[in-house]
Amino acid sequence: MIIRHENPDKESGDIDAIFALTKAAFANMPFSDGAEPHIINALRNHGDLTLSLVAEADGIIIGQITFSPVEIKGMKNWYGLGPVSVAPDWQRGQKELNIGSALIRAGLSRLKNLDANGCVLIGNPDYYSRFGFRSGGLTYGDIPQEYVQWLSFGDHTPKGEVRYAKGFEV
Ligand SMILES: CC(C)(COP(=O)(O)OP(=O)(O)OC[C@H]1O[C@@H](n2cnc3c(N)ncnc32)[C@H](O)[C@@H]1OP(=O)(O)O)[C@@H](O)C(=O)NCCC(=O)NCCS
Repeated sequence: MIIRHENPDKESGDIDAIFALTKAAFANMPFSDGAEPHIINALRNHGDLTLSLVAEADGIIIGQITFSPVEIKGMKNWYGLGPVSVAPDWQRGQKELNIGSALIRAGLSRLKNLDANGCVLIGNPDYYSRFGFRSGGLTYGDIPQEYVQWLSFGDHTPKGEVRYAKGFEV
């Protein structure tokens, strides 16, 4: 398995494969309304796809992670992680690859190199705490606060409402 940047070329690139993968990954998730693949396309079209990495095995895309800018009062260069997807047959550590974890670690490391000061996400704390994310202080609409998680790359502690890029309004 390799992790690389997406190829955004409309003809020969990864756009369709990422759409299909994301759709399949979220298809049976009770919390999903099916918007995730459309969000990635909207972010790309609006120039807000800060970082899109794919996991590839034998030439097939089996995972993808998205980062885009977020607004938090008083904070500069913070980004949102998500959606993140692994193909159903490869999820939850199957084939001992832990593709989701590999994508998250690779993504956070590259984000730091882009001068990011921190990262937020909406997700299950049982999973994301292993990467250093924690909750408290940030809100996102009426989502329970423990699901609104953040990871600071410095000593800033974010507070208040998170606003995601326009692409999330699909
Ligand atoms: C969430 C997702 C990206 C994780 O990637 P993955 O490759 O399946 O998971 P990993 O191999 O990195 O990690 C496996 C571990 O995470 C746990 N885990 C995976 N997804 C989890 C979730 N949504 N909630 C809680 N735990 C989760 C597994 O139970 C396993 O636990 P263990 O290490 O204690 O045995 C992947 O399962 C996926 O695409 N899910 C559907 C889409 C989705 O929910 N995306 C995230 C939305 S916030």
